[in-house]
Amino acid sequence: MSHHPDPSPGTALVTGGAGFIGSHIVDRLVADRWSVRVLDDFSSGREENLARSGREIELIRGDLCDPETLEAATRGVEVIFHEGAIPSVPRSVADPRGTNAVNLEGTLGVLEAARRNGVRRVVLAASAAAYGDVDLLPLVESGPVRPLSPYALQKYGSELYCTLYASLYGLETVALRYFNVYGPRQDPASDYAAAIPLFVSAALEDRGVTVFGDGEQSRDFVYIDDVVEANLRAAAAPATSASGRVTNVASGRRTTVNELIEVLSDCVGHPIPVTHDAPRVGDIRHSWAEVSLARELLGWAPSRTLAEGLRFTVDAYKRGEEIG
Ligand SMILES: NC(=O)c1ccc[n+]([C@@H]2O[C@H](COP(=O)([O-])OP(=O)(O)OC[C@H]3O[C@@H](n4cnc5c(N)ncnc54)[C@H](O)[C@@H]3O)[C@@H](O)[C@H]2O)c1
Repeated sequence: MSHHPDPSPGTALVTGGAGFIGSHIVDRLVADRWSVRVLDDFSSGREENLARSGREIELIRGDLCDPETLEAATRGVEVIFHEGAIPSVPRSVADPRGTNAVNLEGTLGVLEAARRNGVRRVVLAASAAAYGDVDLLPLVESGPVRPLSPYALQKYGSELYCTLYASLYGLETVALRYFNVYGPRQDPASDYAAAIPLFVSAALEDRGVTVFGDGEQSRDFVYIDDVVEANLRAAAAPATSASGRVTNVASGRRTTVNELIEVLSDCVGHPIPVTHDAPRVGDIRHSWAEVSLARELLGWAPSRTLAEGLRFTVDAYKRGEEIG
């Protein structure tokens, strides 16, 4: 059976659509004239994140672990962007079963509902956490994975389910291994905020920042708009090359925490005082992605430099966009 892609976009479901990444995907889908449905339980998502698109979407407040809710949410849907999860390593360590129910069983539920309701494609928010402390850099999709936390395992398991559903049932799936995503709306006040929102809010409030260890640890920071674009491409890429595949979504560059602070102080126009604390147990030293597979499979490449992305982020935080 061959698919004839419809030139006018259909209905998309964004699970976790009130969250940081999900809400940016929602805004883009609305701008591209998709009919958009959001399923979110607002456990970490926020009403304010949907301020821009709120009136134009169908919002389902509910738990993605509930089969009846999912059944209703996936009816008539062409593409699912599955962002809903409990995206916290420490929480997964404290509560492996509770987080597994959402992060792994939740994904299985989404795939099942997609299969039953004839959804064309599921795009999964997977994670670079799957790589763990693999030290063959840059990290490639064909290389080893070593999940070091329940969260990492749950995300990795979700990828495997996606690939399995593609081969076993012919459901089109694409799993995107996000690296360190940053941008407006990332909550600096959350229990598991990443470095950038914490540093940006500290810099704007003239506070110093705490760096764990010597600051020479590196990460691959990818700007939210690039991540949104990767999702859109993942929804549209030909099934023959993309379905069942797993690909990195990253900047393809490594930045040390010390460099990050330097670029950010340039951006805010004043030096940022740094206090050093003991290295955090379990933190990986370096993370850096190879991004050529995403180009090959999805025709996607990162476009924002860190300086540009930080500027957009700082401007948005100044406008108060982190809370609305
Ligand atoms: N932010 C990153 O750098 C990063 C990196 C790798 C992977 N990811 C993945 O990307 C996705 C989005 O992450 P984010 O950073 O936007 O986090 P987020 O916490 O802002 O978004 C997660 C959303 O899922 C919702 N949710 C949680 N449990 C739910 C449930 N049972 N039913 C319905 N909705 C539920 C939350 O309310 C929230 O809106 C997650 O799957 C995360 O694992 C994020």
